[in-house]
Amino acid sequence: MLYVKNLHKSYIVGNKEYPVLKGVSFQIAKGEFVAVMGPSGSGKSTLLNCISCYIPFDKGEITLGGTQLTNLSETELAKVRNEKLGFVFQDFMLLDGLTVRENILVPRIIQGKVDQEAETFADRLIALFGIEHIRNKYPAEISGGEKQRTAVARSLINDPYVILADEPTGNLDSKSSRTVIDSFKHAKKQMNATIFMVTHDSFAASFCDRVILLKDGTVHRQLEKTGSRSDFQDQLLDAIKEMSE
Ligand SMILES: Nc1ncnc2c1ncn2[C@@H]1O[C@H](COP(=O)(O)OP(=O)(O)OP(=O)(O)O)[C@@H](O)[C@H]1O
Ligand SMILES: [Mg+2]
Repeated sequence: MLYVKNLHKSYIVGNKEYPVLKGVSFQIAKGEFVAVMGPSGSGKSTLLNCISCYIPFDKGEITLGGTQLTNLSETELAKVRNEKLGFVFQDFMLLDGLTVRENILVPRIIQGKVDQEAETFADRLIALFGIEHIRNKYPAEISGGEKQRTAVARSLINDPYVILADEPTGNLDSKSSRTVIDSFKHAKKQMNATIFMVTHDSFAASFCDRVILLKDGTVHRQLEKTGSRSDFQDQLLDAIKEMSE
């Protein structure tokens, strides 16, 4: 579903070049829930923004659902971003003036494609995430957990190749974090959704199938969950400790 091969990205500041990604390679299969972890400044957000078609990269390949991003024009990249990716933002970014149902349809509204199929799909997502009772309410009238479920439902409306999330649990207490993670797991189980999440939180990451550790601009290690969640969290904490030594 997502292939990243030998990805390079530098930022130019003044007349100096700062390499951030120095040959990152990995792949994610359809239906996988994968986290990226790594020290602050290791390039996690940069990597996510390259996959999101937000920033151009210097070298390497990104392939999303069979489409190579490397040779696409700005307009084509915007089309991939708007139609084939799902996003879950740290503060969820629901629009205050729209109801829950309308918020879920926002990506389709932007595309001018609110047809019968989109309406039916929105209703299916509303049922799937158990938010029928608030479908006509506004964000100010619903709980934090309901907002998070709405945001994850919205990220699915385009049947995206992959859902991208940068620190989706970053501002949340542990109960709210759990709601977000459970919503991702639900999306994976019910819709075979593919999820790529940047996180600092080993608890959140321990719910994933696999964790990619970034360090010094490359993939330092990948850990696969084979046993229980708590064993996986211990394994992650050890790997992070080892990485910072
Ligand atoms: N637009 C930019 N221009 C110049 N340098 C940048 C830019 N964005 C990021 N950087 C630098 O690139 C490096 C990687 O940044 P990035 O945001 O990808 O890290 P990160 O792993 O997401 O960190 P954090 O965990 O703190 O969010 C950092 O040193 C950062 O200062
Ligand atoms: Mg970041």
